[in-house]
Amino acid sequence: MTENALANSMSTMSTQDAQNPVDFYRHHIAERLSPIVNKPAQDLVKLLSWTQTLDKGDLMLPVAALREKGVKPPERAEELAAAFPADDDVLVTCKANGPYVQFYYKPNDVIARVIPMILSTKQIYGSNPIPGLRDPQHPEQGKKKIVVEFSSPNIAKEFHQGHLRSTIIGGFISKLYALNGWEVIRMNYLGDWGKQYGLLANGFRQFGSQEELAKNSIAHLFEVYVKISKIKAEQDVPINDLKKQIREKKQKGEDTAALEKELEPLVAESEDEKARRYFKSMEDKEPEAMKLWKQFRDLSIDKYKKTYARLNIEFDIYAGESLVSPEKIDEVLKTLKEKNISEESEGAVLIDFAKHGAKKLNKAIIQRKDGTPLYLTRDLAGILERHEKYNFDKMIYVIADQQNEHNGQLFKTTEISGHKEISDKCQHISFGMVKGMSTRRGTVKFLDDVIQHVKDTMMEVMRKNDKKYQQLTEPEKIADILAITAIMVQDLTGKVRNGYEFDFERMTSFEGDTGPYLQYAHARLCSIERKAGADLGSLSSADLSLLNEQHAIDLARSLAQYPEVVTNTYKTQEPATILTYLFKMSHALSSSYDVLQVVGSEPELMQARLALYEAARQVLWNGMTLLGLTPVERM
Ligand code: ARG
Repeated sequence: MTENALANSMSTMSTQDAQNPVDFYRHHIAERLSPIVNKPAQDLVKLLSWTQTLDKGDLMLPVAALREKGVKPPERAEELAAAFPADDDVLVTCKANGPYVQFYYKPNDVIARVIPMILSTKQIYGSNPIPGLRDPQHPEQGKKKIVVEFSSPNIAKEFHQGHLRSTIIGGFISKLYALNGWEVIRMNYLGDWGKQYGLLANGFRQFGSQEELAKNSIAHLFEVYVKISKIKAEQDVPINDLKKQIREKKQKGEDTAALEKELEPLVAESEDEKARRYFKSMEDKEPEAMKLWKQFRDLSIDKYKKTYARLNIEFDIYAGESLVSPEKIDEVLKTLKEKNISEESEGAVLIDFAKHGAKKLNKAIIQRKDGTPLYLTRDLAGILERHEKYNFDKMIYVIADQQNEHNGQLFKTTEISGHKEISDKCQHISFGMVKGMSTRRGTVKFLDDVIQHVKDTMMEVMRKNDKKYQQLTEPEKIADILAITAIMVQDLTGKVRNGYEFDFERMTSFEGDTGPYLQYAHARLCSIERKAGADLGSLSSADLSLLNEQHAIDLARSLAQYPEVVTNTYKTQEPATILTYLFKMSHALSSSYDVLQVVGSEPELMQARLALYEAARQVLWNGMTLLGLTPVERM
């Protein structure tokens, strides 16, 4: 199912359809507890929390959360457990454990409830259409709109670790909001403007080739950029040296005319100055200058699109620094001046955040001496333009923590310049850096190289099992997917704000909580179904009462948690919440294969176990695709 189809089928669901078995149990328990603790059931629903491990029950009530005066929680827990109606109850049992009351779903009930629910709702299981509705009472008003800005590489510069993380996390955040009922606009804000594009264009005139550009645009532009930057850096040495001497002489009150005369031609002839002139002609929208620049941009986007497709990501908008309108920038500069937020300093214009109660944000220049705007200025205009254009309810910027100060300045300035209603809707998801993304061949600069390197390793691993390898119709494609899974799972494993060490060895291993392990769990379920010749369409008639083993019960209890895990992830915005669950569930699965065999069992039992496994496969699939992975059926 495509994402749109998924979103559509979700929007036709009503509140009652919300597919969350835990919700059902929560309400059931709350209603029975209500007369015992003398509190309305709806207040109790919120107090029933899910458990980290199933031995602590399926849901639990921390007695302290009831805020009853003068009670000892462990004693009270005993009382509540004793008073909870048990004899005629076929749905849950409970027991006291210290200051908690633990509730357990009755095995046959949870199995009969959750497996058919998953088999009938399929991809929708775990999605939650309510949070993103503009008004749940008035669904016709539609969904809330979110802009997620992520990836945002700089044309002609390397696609580095920071961009990779932004891409992976941003892709996940977009899917998470879509799954929770929001209309999502995926935006790529390219670094495609500034003096460095003047430098690049001049470099291209000297070293560029249209042929190479067509063949491998990103690498070629990078190569040109490196060459011309080197020349510029060499020229900078004597220029900076002279400038320094002039400054020193001036301080001493000495005559600098001779030195300045010496400096003048060096500057005038420098690549830096030529770049400035070229960029000026871009700012003035001179057709010749714009044509070359546009060609660079378009070709780079074509290339990026192919790479993004491998990561299951498609952007709705390729925005960029170049597309922020000069009028909006002028407007922003004017407002900031009028409101005395900005000030002049040595010909430039800056904001001193200490004067606006935000000392931590330091100072930021928003207009250079020569009148040109900066990165921050474009963002300040961009945030307003985006709000006008998309009228979003929320906007998330997924950017590395190196730009925390920048984002703080952006939001603060937007707030104090009279747009608090906009800055309040914006969030910066800040992530830590990746270290050591280098291969035996040296540090990699481009995402494609990283994927290729991991892919080669995956290929080696796959070839080791020759029998399986021979069965693959498209080994290349599988290796590609496994490589991408390995990279993404590694990236999504820790807390977003923490950085991590890029570890080729570990991420490609089939042991431990890695991407290949997760793919293997999915492929193994597919293989069980294939070997049993399962007719997935007929599983709804399976006799689930045959599933009596503890392994089957625990697996079903774990599957029941999935929608809660998604809801929780929506609150934490942490992909690790999903991953941790998927790994735990996969471990439960792998320990049940010996006990719950399919091939060789009686037909009825076989059918029941297949229903359980298919439900597990569906949940794995749902979780993996939410993370942006492509589950494989063979590997
Ligand atoms: N292109 C920038 C960089 O590579 C990231 C852009 C982040 N987004 C923003 N709105 N400033 O550093």
